[in-house]
Amino acid sequence: MRIAVGSDHGGYALKVLLAGQLEASGHEVLDLGTDSEESVDYPDYGAAVGLAVAEGRAELGLCACGTGIGISIAANKIPGVRAALVHDATTARLAREHNHANVVCFGGRTTGTEVAGDALRAFLAATPLGGRHQHRVDEISALEADLTRKGNP
Ligand code: RB5
Repeated sequence: MRIAVGSDHGGYALKVLLAGQLEASGHEVLDLGTDSEESVDYPDYGAAVGLAVAEGRAELGLCACGTGIGISIAANKIPGVRAALVHDATTARLAREHNHANVVCFGGRTTGTEVAGDALRAFLAATPLGGRHQHRVDEISALEADLTRKGNP
């Protein structure tokens, strides 16, 4: 599978580690930066990964910043992207199964390397379940298209 990866300086070390694990397990990595621990702005890298996924240049994306929060917010601004900040294998699996997440995000300063590796493997092993979840994911897509804005749920 082709997987786009990107991080700011706060997620750089974890991104490098996880990208190496992806390659070791046979995946093709499209590394969109950053390339060092020099301070950069996370929205640039969240957008780059999100665009690669939305445009079909990668099947899935992986993002990391210090907490994973900023870069996931940025990636989610790209239509078609469902970026999920995960903290362990359970949140990673459910992000894929229930939310059909196509970008997985990590906090390089908040999640340990062993836990992050387990979470990444769980994310890749999981499959979007569709069914009752598909309708909810479709609602998110409709929100992107501004079709179903409601005052109340
Ligand atoms: C950078 O210092 C830090 O703010 C960034 O990596 C991230 O944690 C933002 O959400």
